[in-house]
Amino acid sequence: MEVKTSLLDNMIGVGDMVLLEPLSEDSFIENLRNRFDHNEIYTYIGSVVISMNPYRSLPIFTPEKVEEYRNRNFYELSPHIYALADEAYSSLRDQDKDQCILITGESGAGKTEASKLVMSYVAAVCGKGQEVNKVKEQLLQSNPVLEAFGNAKTVRNDNSSRFGKYMDIEFDFKGDPLGGVISNYLLEKSRVVKQPRGERNFHVFYQLLSGASDDTLKKLKLDRDFSKYNYLSLDSAAVNGLDDAANFRTVRNAMQIVGFMEDEVQSVLELVAAVLKLGNIEFKPESRCNGTDESRIKDKNDLKEMCELLGIEQSVLERAFSYRTVEAKLEKVSTTLNVSQAYYARDALAKNLYSRLFSWLVTRINESIKAQAKTRHKVMGVLDIYGFEIFEDNSFEQFIINYCNEKLQQIFIELTLREEQEEYVREGIEWTNIEYFNNAIICDLIENHQNGILAMLDEECLRPGTVTDETFLDKLNTICAEHQHFESRLSKNSKFLTDHSLPHSCFRIQHYAGKVLYRTEGFVDKNNDLLYRDLSQAMYKATHSLIKQLFPEGNPAKVNLKRPPTAGFQFKASVGTLMRNLQTKNPNYIRCIKPNDKKAAHIFTDSLVRHQARYLGLMENVRVRRAGYAFRQAYEPCLERYKMLCKRTWPHWRGPAREGVEVLMGDLQVPTEEYSYGRSKIFIRNPRTLFFLEERRRQCLQDLATLIQKIYRGWKCRSHFLLLKESQIVVAAWYRRFAQQKKYKKIKSATTVMQSYARGWQVRREYRKFFRANAGKKIYDFTIQRIMQKYFLGLKSTTPSMSPVDMNWPTRPYRFLDGVHTELRRIFHLWRCKKYRSQFTEEQKAVYEEKLEASEIFKDKKTLYPSSVSQPFKGDYLEISKNPKYQKLSSAVDEKVLLADVVNKINRANGKGTPRIFLLTKKSVVLADQKTGQVKASVPLPDLSSVSVSTQSDGFFALRLKEGSASAIKGDFLLSSEHLIEIITKLHRTGATAADSEQLNIDISDEFLVQFKQDKVCVKFIQAAALKNGNSVSCKRKNNRLLEVSVPASA
Ligand SMILES: Nc1ncnc2c1ncn2[C@@H]1O[C@H](COP(=O)(O)OP(=O)(O)OP(=O)(O)O)[C@@H](O)[C@H]1O
Ligand SMILES: [Mg+2]
Repeated sequence: MEVKTSLLDNMIGVGDMVLLEPLSEDSFIENLRNRFDHNEIYTYIGSVVISMNPYRSLPIFTPEKVEEYRNRNFYELSPHIYALADEAYSSLRDQDKDQCILITGESGAGKTEASKLVMSYVAAVCGKGQEVNKVKEQLLQSNPVLEAFGNAKTVRNDNSSRFGKYMDIEFDFKGDPLGGVISNYLLEKSRVVKQPRGERNFHVFYQLLSGASDDTLKKLKLDRDFSKYNYLSLDSAAVNGLDDAANFRTVRNAMQIVGFMEDEVQSVLELVAAVLKLGNIEFKPESRCNGTDESRIKDKNDLKEMCELLGIEQSVLERAFSYRTVEAKLEKVSTTLNVSQAYYARDALAKNLYSRLFSWLVTRINESIKAQAKTRHKVMGVLDIYGFEIFEDNSFEQFIINYCNEKLQQIFIELTLREEQEEYVREGIEWTNIEYFNNAIICDLIENHQNGILAMLDEECLRPGTVTDETFLDKLNTICAEHQHFESRLSKNSKFLTDHSLPHSCFRIQHYAGKVLYRTEGFVDKNNDLLYRDLSQAMYKATHSLIKQLFPEGNPAKVNLKRPPTAGFQFKASVGTLMRNLQTKNPNYIRCIKPNDKKAAHIFTDSLVRHQARYLGLMENVRVRRAGYAFRQAYEPCLERYKMLCKRTWPHWRGPAREGVEVLMGDLQVPTEEYSYGRSKIFIRNPRTLFFLEERRRQCLQDLATLIQKIYRGWKCRSHFLLLKESQIVVAAWYRRFAQQKKYKKIKSATTVMQSYARGWQVRREYRKFFRANAGKKIYDFTIQRIMQKYFLGLKSTTPSMSPVDMNWPTRPYRFLDGVHTELRRIFHLWRCKKYRSQFTEEQKAVYEEKLEASEIFKDKKTLYPSSVSQPFKGDYLEISKNPKYQKLSSAVDEKVLLADVVNKINRANGKGTPRIFLLTKKSVVLADQKTGQVKASVPLPDLSSVSVSTQSDGFFALRLKEGSASAIKGDFLLSSEHLIEIITKLHRTGATAADSEQLNIDISDEFLVQFKQDKVCVKFIQAAALKNGNSVSCKRKNNRLLEVSVPASA
């Protein structure tokens, strides 16, 4: 998209002085300074470009800048010389209008640089192609050549143009350059022979001596040493920043590009060398017999070398420096020259030689750059002429130069006004008369045919009789006395009689740019510009073709007795031609300003700039420009720029631009006298109005920027939000999908289970009818049977051994067989026990029955029991029937003895035991003396009520007798035996089998009462540590009622 910009954007100060508010000289200068300080060296006054010399290279002349300004509107970008060049070139190419670019300003203000910038810009933007490029290159390369010969170092400028130059560049209809024509104006030839202090001769002399090869110098008979040449000033021979040797190579190269032939270059250099040689010719007086002094050449060496260089016969030239031939009609009179006349003649020859060489160079360049095609050309003229000069000592040259500047100023005023006027007419705006200073009156003072200063000078020069500068001044004093811009001490006008700033030999002119005091000395001479005929004829006689060409008047065949036109006359004529030429073209102005006198960057000398601004008439320029309307702009860009200020035109206006602007101005309530509508432009009378529009626009742009920012931020946040939302939806969708998938899988598997159940059920129901009766049950039973079968068969192989104490049993294979398995284990155990038992004999059986009974009575009740389990119940320990010792006893007992053992009968008085034989028969218990075998007591079993034993590991037991029985008289028996378990078991068994007797009570406790005759004694069993005497159990009588039995705690 093309970006529409304006000069008004990012302005430093104001880019166009027309917009300066308030307009005063101070604000004008301040604006220039402000811009200069910010490296803005260009400022406009309408379409005029003011250019400040930056005295340093700025990065604003790059190819990028060229592109930036290419085909852009003049006011679209910040002020630049390229904008002016582009404007001129575009209207030349597109509107077929011939253009001229007028560059003015004082010496060192940057005119030549500006003209080169314009040319390089045009060269960069115009068409390309081999032929076109060659033309461009030739046009551009003509500059170094002319600068070498026409420029010199002055106190004001190290590269000061000492001639005026106007170059017409010709283009074809497409805008491609075809060629050009250069016109030169009045070279300051006096410089060739004499330079003011601190200045130099023309560059080419120094360039030649520094840059030419030794060989070339030898050929030219020159020495590299500047000091050997009288015409070269030595005090500033070397210039800072100027490399003469390198420049010489550049010039040679440029000459080659422009089309100079090698022999032409050589000829030119020979002429330059000849001028140097000429300067070295010195004269001495030689007295003649008539008493006058005749000049003679001092040292003829230089003359000889010069003549060799130019192919002149030495004697001819020598004579020309000594004699002067005056021809009048058919008469020839020869007079001798004195030394000063000889010097005059020498210098005149040098000046003429050089200035003619310069003109020849211009002609030669023109030949090369001349447009080939004969089609109609479009022309762009670039005028780089010496600027207005006010020196301490102003002479004929300054007068001529300042006259030229007056003319340019006039044309500037005329054209500016004319253009302004034309624009108003074109746009249909009422023309308002503009007051301005017209310098036509000054021009008239100088150039008037009858009584102008130049005319009078010519008159004086042509007048017979003695003519001097004084007579010329007298004439002026008479004729111009009344002129309001002429001042002279001795004029008829007595106004200046007492003005001491005005010397008698001077006159002063009030130029448009200031008052200039001219010293009349040399005016007549310089205007005459006399070269003695003998010299021109001597030159013509040269064999050197170029020098011959330069002095055609020396041809004796074409003797012209008419005086050649004066310098003033020639100059006036060429200025006249130039002005006529310029008037036919569309002017573009570049007004150069020099910021300081020091040729230094960054320095802005207020007074100097103020002076230049004054004499360039810049303020007047602004006033003229503002007299009508300060600002104008085509409707389209105007609407484009301000359309945001009105709701109806923003953002788009569909109708014609003019109507849009009308709506806009109406809406903004700008007073109608402040503007006018032209055909294609709006004219704004006052800069205030424009600034008001600009300020409104700035505010509006700020608001718009805020709005754009707001919308952008909103958009950004919203898109971010939408992105988040979208992402959230995606995430949620994925998550939901995942959750739903999970749920679905769960439901699906549940459904499959249910379905399989249902189907199973359905199928079973379906299939049930195909079976006679409960197929399912049968399958189930069959399955169970199979499982059971497998289980039992498995069990067969895994059943443990038949030993009743083998506790192994296979693990159950199925949980549902839990009960069966346990039960089987139990049954198996019972069965193998039964099997085990069935092997027993009757005796063994009885023994085990007793053992069983013992177990039932004592297991877990008495500590002594476990130790008895492994002891077989022998019964008859004493072998009573066999042992003869107990024969008597045996016979006393009729019944079969079930048990015979020795027990201790506990003495009721002290608790000590007395051994007694204990016999148990089916009917009674007999106690007998161990030694004698005498029966001590026999208790029928039915008299026993109970037996008491302790819970501990002792062998005590008490036989308790039934109260009231026959045996009870003696009281209960407290006994102790090692076979307590067997005795009690057998007692219990026997008691139980006795038909008439009831069950014998077995009382197991650690405290029981024993009836001793009348007393009841409590027998108490306590646990005690093992006794020392080895007797494990001790019984002590504690008191009448208590018998304490200490039983060691079972280990
Ligand atoms: N645009 C520029 N950028 C950088 N330097 C510049 C510019 N214009 C001028 N100068 C400097 O100022 C010097 C003088 O400029 P220039 O020769 O163009 O002046 P002039 O107006 O032609 O003077 P004269 O009337 O003496 O010929 C240049 O040599 C250069 O150093
Ligand atoms: Mg110049």
